[in-house]
Amino acid sequence: MAQTTSFTLNGRPAQVAGDPGRMLVDALRYDLGLTGTKQGCGAGLCGACTVLLDHEPVPSCATAVADVAGKSVITIEGLMKGGILDPVQQAFIDHHAFQCGFCTPGMILTAYALLRRRPGATRAEIVEAMEGNLCRCGAHARIVAAVESVAKGGVK
Ligand code: FES
Ligand code: FES
Repeated sequence: MAQTTSFTLNGRPAQVAGDPGRMLVDALRYDLGLTGTKQGCGAGLCGACTVLLDHEPVPSCATAVADVAGKSVITIEGLMKGGILDPVQQAFIDHHAFQCGFCTPGMILTAYALLRRRPGATRAEIVEAMEGNLCRCGAHARIVAAVESVAKGGVK
């Protein structure tokens, strides 16, 4: 008998049918159509697939569907509110903090979680918090600048 896993996704009830041992990134992308979550290494090492689980960043390629039962999952699609980008998203645009954009959803969600916890995070805290998110395009300097601008009150 098919199993169903229920959780909250971007503030709304969601369900995924099938093997609860499957990885969350696959359920998000292929069952639920949320392709903003990217899969890079598939081994919990690059941060491309980062989502927030109960407000903490986790690699969705290394998180089983069963692990999110009854919990809150936020993906990049859940950050915009009322048609307005989250300040972290806007800062990435303002600072040109991406090239190919593959790492961007994970970067933004990791930064969003940090600033929720530490609104005035220092540059060193930003760098430390984002250590697990890799950018193959080498946009790290602009990424840190974008996050720092939000921590300093949105100053570009
Ligand atoms: S794809 Fe999940 S950490 Fe790299
Ligand atoms: S912008 Fe291409 S991997 Fe970061």
